[in-house]
Amino acid sequence: SQQGLLRIMISGAPASGKGTQCELITAKYGLVHIAAGDLLREEIASGSENGKMAKEYMEKGQLVPDEIVVMMVKERILKPDSLEKGWLLDGYPRSLSQATALKEFVLQPDLFILLEVPDDILVERVVGRRLDPVTGKIYHLKYSPPENEEIASRLAQRFDDTEEKVKLRLQTHHQNVEAVVAMYKDIMVKIDGSVSKEDVFAQIDRALTKVLEQKAASGTVI
Ligand code: AP5
Repeated sequence: SQQGLLRIMISGAPASGKGTQCELITAKYGLVHIAAGDLLREEIASGSENGKMAKEYMEKGQLVPDEIVVMMVKERILKPDSLEKGWLLDGYPRSLSQATALKEFVLQPDLFILLEVPDDILVERVVGRRLDPVTGKIYHLKYSPPENEEIASRLAQRFDDTEEKVKLRLQTHHQNVEAVVAMYKDIMVKIDGSVSKEDVFAQIDRALTKVLEQKAASGTVI
């Protein structure tokens, strides 16, 4: 039933490891990964008017207007696969208005994961990040190097992954995070995101196991 499915949100500064952890979470828990940033980049790639407008904001490290983001996330999260398997929402909501909008179209989420990483580490993570356009997998030249030469030769960099732009993205994050956190403090778990990706995942895995146990217990018919 809908009650047994996981509905998870993951939040954190730029390059705090959201995408990396989502790869690990979906591999174990089979949730549908919905990343606001990925949806926006797909929109840009499609060449649509919304994509063009979104890119202007992303170039400046600012939030893309709700008219575009809310609609995209809503459409994706209401697709049959998300409703059947449960979902993992990455990089949304990033403002009070987005959180309020979300309430209108989904059931209450089970957990809000906040990845905490000091700013100086984030800049290094951004600058070294590379993406595999074929598999979508996230790499880092130092921390998660590609497995072989073939992959290494095709890795790409995101247009907003410069030191200058990540500083703007960080500013936007710091301006908005408190309002979102305040909204979800009852279901929030803070995770130390500064350790290795395996150790970060171990913390998340424990939190998710606990949520599943609680859901199973509350669903027991007596
Ligand atoms: P988005 O694409 O969401 O970017 P972001 O929030 O800046 O986050 P990133 O994707 O950069 O990082 P991540 O946390 O996923 O880290 P990753 O796992 O890759 O958004 C982009 C833009 O779109 C925004 O600026 C905004 O303009 C717009 N936008 C998006 N959502 C929006 C919304 N809701 N409303 C309005 N506008 C929106 O890891 C980073 C690097 O570190 C990688 O190289 C990785 O290999 C490495 N790494 C990861 N974990 C570790 C670890 N534990 N140790 C060492 N290295 C690690």
